[in-house]
Amino acid sequence: TPVRLADYRPSPWRIDRVALQFRLAPRGTTVTARLEISSAPGGEDLRLDGEGLRLLSLRLDGRALDLRPDDRGLTIPAADLPQGAFTLESVVEIDPADNTALEGLYMSKGMYCTQCEAEGFRKITFYPDRPDVMAPFDVTIESDLPVLLSNGNPAGQGRWTDPWPKPAYLFALVAGDLIAHSARFTTASGRGVDLNIWVRQCDEDHCAYAMDSLIRSMRWDEQVYGREYDLDVFNIVAVDDFNMGAMENKGLNIFNSRYVLASPETATDDDYARIEAIIAHEYFHNWTGNRITCRDWFQLCLKEGLTVYRDQQFSGDMRSHAVKRIEDVLMLRARQFREDAGPLAHPVRPESYVEINNFYTATVYEKGAEVIGMLRRLVGDDGYAKALDLYFARHDGEAATIEDWLAVFEEATGRDLAQFKRWYSEAGTPRVRVTEQYEAGHLTLHLEQINPPTPGQPRKSPKVIPIAVGLLSPEGREVLPTTVLELTGAQQAFSFDGLEARPVVSILRGFSAPVILERAVGAAERAFLLEHDTDPFNRWEAGRALAKDLLARMVTDGTDPGPDWMTAMEAVTFDDGLEPAFRALVLRLPSEDDMAQTLHAAGHVPDPAAIHTARRRMQAVLANGLAARLPDLLAALDDPGPYTPDAAAAGRRALRMAALSLLSRVDGGAAARATFTTADNMTVEVGALACLLEIGAGDEELTRFATRWGEDRLVMDKWFTLQILHAAPETVAERTEALTGHADFDMRNPNRFRAIFGALAANHAGFHHADGASYRLLADWLIRLDALNPQTAARMSTAFDSWSRMDVDRQDMIRGELTRIRATPGLSRDLGEMTERMLGGA
Ligand code: ARG
Ligand code: ZN
Repeated sequence: TPVRLADYRPSPWRIDRVALQFRLAPRGTTVTARLEISSAPGGEDLRLDGEGLRLLSLRLDGRALDLRPDDRGLTIPAADLPQGAFTLESVVEIDPADNTALEGLYMSKGMYCTQCEAEGFRKITFYPDRPDVMAPFDVTIESDLPVLLSNGNPAGQGRWTDPWPKPAYLFALVAGDLIAHSARFTTASGRGVDLNIWVRQCDEDHCAYAMDSLIRSMRWDEQVYGREYDLDVFNIVAVDDFNMGAMENKGLNIFNSRYVLASPETATDDDYARIEAIIAHEYFHNWTGNRITCRDWFQLCLKEGLTVYRDQQFSGDMRSHAVKRIEDVLMLRARQFREDAGPLAHPVRPESYVEINNFYTATVYEKGAEVIGMLRRLVGDDGYAKALDLYFARHDGEAATIEDWLAVFEEATGRDLAQFKRWYSEAGTPRVRVTEQYEAGHLTLHLEQINPPTPGQPRKSPKVIPIAVGLLSPEGREVLPTTVLELTGAQQAFSFDGLEARPVVSILRGFSAPVILERAVGAAERAFLLEHDTDPFNRWEAGRALAKDLLARMVTDGTDPGPDWMTAMEAVTFDDGLEPAFRALVLRLPSEDDMAQTLHAAGHVPDPAAIHTARRRMQAVLANGLAARLPDLLAALDDPGPYTPDAAAAGRRALRMAALSLLSRVDGGAAARATFTTADNMTVEVGALACLLEIGAGDEELTRFATRWGEDRLVMDKWFTLQILHAAPETVAERTEALTGHADFDMRNPNRFRAIFGALAANHAGFHHADGASYRLLADWLIRLDALNPQTAARMSTAFDSWSRMDVDRQDMIRGELTRIRATPGLSRDLGEMTERMLGGA
C-alpha cells in the first residue's frame, strides 16, 4: 500500500538520546540500542520500525518485555508505557555477511559498512525510522578490526559521540583494515578539522584529488554560502560495493570507490570531474540535508535539489560555467526529460510512493535543481542570498518542508510564489511555443505554454516560466542584453521597441527553464546564432538544434546535410578563440536516444536502426568534411607535459579525442592505434580505444587493455562497458551475454552489473534491436538480481521506460518482458512498483 504525503502526521514520540553498541561478527552482529524516549501525552502505542532483526531482548526502564515483532516492526502497547520519559533497551542480532541488498549494515571485501538512507536503519535496530525524529547519538563498536568509525567526534577507540541531533538515515558505521589519507583544515572561525579519506591499503595513492576537492568544497561553502563545518573530524570512506554514488552521513561520508579513487593512469577526465562534484555534493549536504533535514521523504527534493544546485554552482566556479551548463542540460534532457515523457513521470515533490528508493530520480535531483535555478533568476542574486540566509537561520536543527523553503523566499523578497509552487507539484516538461512578429522597429514575441498530461495528472495549469532572451542585430551585435521575461499565462506577448532592423532572437538563454521550445527556425538563423550569439549556452544550443534538424531529415527522408552545416562546424572546430571543451561539445552529435525522444515528440515513431544508420552517416559526412585539417588540430592538441586534471587540460583532451574519433572514420584507425599505444593517461587510452571500437576494430587493443588492467576493478568496469557500448547493434546481446560468463563478472557488485547492463541499455540501437534479444537478456538478469539486490534491480529496470515511444512490435516485446518480471514469485517491493508503474501506462 502506498504512503501518501496527505497522510503525514508528526511523530507522537521524541527520542532525546540514542546509545548504540555494536559487537561485530560477520554472521551474527549484536546491536544494543538504548533509546531515551519522551512519551506523547496522547496515550498511544509506541511503534518502532524494524526489518530482518532477530530480537534477543527488550527492556523498558530495566523491566523485560515479552513482545513479538511483526514483518515491519514492533508495537509496544500504550498500556506497557509509563507516563513521561523512559528508556527502552533492545538487543538484536543481524547478519551483515548475508546482506546482499547493501542496505543497513553489510560487508564488502572484509569491511563492515552501512547505508541507511532512506530506510536502512530499520535493518540495524528497532527505531522510529523517519527523518523528523532527530536525536544525538553515542556509538560504541567492538571488533578486532583496526579502524572503527561512526558519526561525530571520536571519544576513544571504537567510541563516537555526535552532538548534532540527526535522523536515523544519517547514521553510519564503518569497520575495517583501512588506512587514511589525511589533511587538516581550519575553518573561517578557526576550528581545526582533521580530514581523512579511508581506503584499503592498495588504494592509498589514489586519494589526493578527492582530498583536494574536499578542501576546495569546504572553503567554497564558507565563501559563497557562509557555511562552516561543525565537527572536529570529517571522514570519507571508499567502498567497492555500493548501490548509489555516495552518502552524506554526518561526519562520515561513505562513497562508492569509483567517486573517490583517481590517478592519471586509471581515471578519465570525466571521472575526475565527477569525483570533484560528488565530494562537493556530499560535503554540502552537511548544511542542506543534515543541519536542515527533511520532514518526510516527500520533501526529498528539499535537500537533493538544493544540494545539486549548489554542487553545480561549485563545479562552474571551479571549471567553466558555460561548459558546465551545457553538460548539465545534456544530462537533464537525456534522463529527466525522458522520465517526464514516459510512464515514470512524477512531480519534483511526489505525492505517494510504495518504495521511496524508487524516487531518487533525475526529476527529484536534477529538475529539483532546475527549479531552484529558476527561482534565483526570478528573485535575483541578492534575493536568493537573503532567502538562503533566512533559511539557514530559521530552520537550522529542523526537519523542514518545501512550504518552509518557499516561505523564506516570499519573506525575503516579498514575492508571491503560489503559482511558482506548481513546479513542485506538477510533473511533465512544459512546451513553450514561440512566434515572432516584426514591423518598423517593433518586435513582438508571442509565447504560449502547453503543459502536457502525465500519469495521474490529466490537466495542469500555467506555470511561471522565466525566459531569458537577448536580441542580436543582423551584423551579430547584441542590441538587447539578456533580459528575463516572465511567462505566467497560457499565452502572453512581449514587445521590444526602437529596433533599427529586424533582430535575431536568442531565446531561453542559459537554458533558463526546463522546457521544450517549439519554434520554427531556419538553418541559416541557427548557423548565424552558432557563429554570433553572445550567450555561450545558446551558441552551443543553436549548433545542437541545427544538427538535430538535419539528422531528423536524414532519418525521415535520407537527405544529407548541406554545405552550410559543414562550414559552420568547421568554423567552430578550428576557432582557437573558443574554449576547446566548448568545441568538443559542439562536435558531439545528438545521441540516438535523444533523437528518438525528439522524433517521438514531433509525432514520429522512431526507428532505432534508421536513427543509428543516419547518425553514423552524419559522422562520416562530418569526418570527410574536416579530414584535411584534423591531423594539424591533433598535433596542436597533443600535450607533451605530465597529465593534470584541470579543466583547461581536460578540455584540450576532449577536443583531441573528438577529432581523433572523426579521423578514425577516414584513416582506418591508424592514428587511434598509435595514440592508444603511447597513451600515458586513462582519458587518452580509453578515448583511443573507443575510437577503434566505433569503427569495428580494436579487438587486439581490448586484449592488451585487459592484460594491463585486469587487477584494477574500476578500470575493468570501463573495459566491460566499452565493448558493449560501442558494439554493432546486431552483436550487442550476444556480446553482453558472453561477458556475463567472464570470470570477473560478479552480479553482487553494483558497479560491475551497471558496467554491463547500463551499457546494454545505453547502446540504443542494440538494446532496441528488432529481435528483442536485448530486452530478454536484461529482463532475465533483472529477475536474478532482484533476489539479491532489489534497489539496483529496480533502478536498472528504467531502461524499459521508453517503451511507449516505440512501434507496436517493440512495445509488445517490452510489455511482455515487464509482465514476465512482474509475475516473478517473491518479487521485491522495489521492482514490483517499477514494473507496475511502467505497465500502468499500457
Ligand atoms: N543522499 C545520497 C545523495 O544524494 C543518495 C542516497 C541514495 N540512497 C538511496 N537509498 N536511494 O547524495
Ligand atoms: Zn544528495
